[in-house]
Amino acid sequence: MSSTTTYPSFPFARPRAWNPPAEYAKLRATEPISRVELWDGSHPWLVVKHKDIINVLTDDRLSKQRNRPGFPEMSAGGKEAGKAKPTFVDMDPPDHMRQRSMVEPLFDWPATEKLRPHIQKTVDDLLDEMIKGGCEVGVDLIPKFALPVPSYIIYGILGVPFEDLAFLTEQAAIRSNGSGTATEASEAAKTLLDYIGSLVDKRTVEPKDDLISKLVTEQVIPGHIKHEDAVQIAFLMLVAGNATMVTMINLGIVTLLQHPSQLLKFKADPDTLIKPFVSELCRYHVASAMATRRVAKVDIELGGHKIKAGEGIIAATQSASRDEDVFSDPETFDILRFVEKEKGGRGEDWHAAMGYGWGQHRCVAESLARAELEIALATIFKRLPDLQLAIPFEEIKWSPAKKDVGILELPVTW
Ligand code: HEM
Repeated sequence: MSSTTTYPSFPFARPRAWNPPAEYAKLRATEPISRVELWDGSHPWLVVKHKDIINVLTDDRLSKQRNRPGFPEMSAGGKEAGKAKPTFVDMDPPDHMRQRSMVEPLFDWPATEKLRPHIQKTVDDLLDEMIKGGCEVGVDLIPKFALPVPSYIIYGILGVPFEDLAFLTEQAAIRSNGSGTATEASEAAKTLLDYIGSLVDKRTVEPKDDLISKLVTEQVIPGHIKHEDAVQIAFLMLVAGNATMVTMINLGIVTLLQHPSQLLKFKADPDTLIKPFVSELCRYHVASAMATRRVAKVDIELGGHKIKAGEGIIAATQSASRDEDVFSDPETFDILRFVEKEKGGRGEDWHAAMGYGWGQHRCVAESLARAELEIALATIFKRLPDLQLAIPFEEIKWSPAKKDVGILELPVTW
């Protein structure tokens, strides 16, 4: 490779609204494994085909440890954050599974099924409150609904007392949604960490039936992890899914409103169609598109390319979810895509969509995230059948074009 070679700057920009960058489709057809240039002048590999991404995300010779030289960081802030003591999201085997298994039982499918009535009540209570306020002027759905639903649920699992929910939800929003300054965001992160630290102390003295007590009694007291590790793990669970959940609730509403014939179908049979709808939503929109990054620990070969130890790899899951080799007509949003053929659908495999990652690091809370989306979206369309945007679609404010897709304000009426 000559020193004059230039590589396209990455991340690519979304051309408009929620559309993924156009470069992905081009690269899938012409150069599925290529190199890009990041903000710091580094040149990691970009992998855009579904089959190659599976190889990347299941190869133990590739590492998630962000303190390894060559790990692709997306910003200076990310590089700084990568130096902190890691939690399991940034660990390799065997440490990764040792720590992940400490929280996994609270987020698996059976645990999530048990939580459904509580999620339903949380959604109903928030909607009651919102509906009570009326909608003469458009109501921003984010602070009233999309943000508190996932926050209240995860705080409940962690064991945060109800009276602190509103304050903590506000701090979490300042930390993650870019509305505050960098200083405000880091102060909010510190407030949350201090709060969790004191909750760990309280549960050490008096354990209850919640995640923090479980970490304390099963891990900290027997000496498997330190107090600070329990704080970090709880903090990870608090923040990891926050922005993505808000984005997916918002997109669920807007996407259905933008597909009126599918909305009609959905309203006619929401209980049957909610699961395939949410699965298609989580294929069509990838809310966390930059999470799946790795660095090679040794030289490897991938799709005919030699990737050297210390070179970074970005697995573009957003591209994989639109891979025409795996999904028919992938640019089309179709709530029947994952419905069986005999029932009039396309009969495709929902698990193949990559919005929750793949392999050992696949989202630990995927079942919970799906349950929350199913309950939130089915309930809002049942209770507010005339729900509509209070502004034209073209006026929706989106996250910056090079960041993960997101909606900044969502004024609605009903
Ligand atoms: C629709 C919502 C969500 C989306 C799209 C999403 C997406 C993802 C993705 C793509 C990964 C894989 C990262 C990788 O390979 O490095 C991941 C991992 C993870 N997610 Fe989620 N997530 C969502 C909801 C949640 C929620 C609600 C929580 C917590 C309650 C959560 C906690 C985590 C954690 C802790 C990991 C790390 C797993 C590991 O490294 O073993 N996520 N998520």
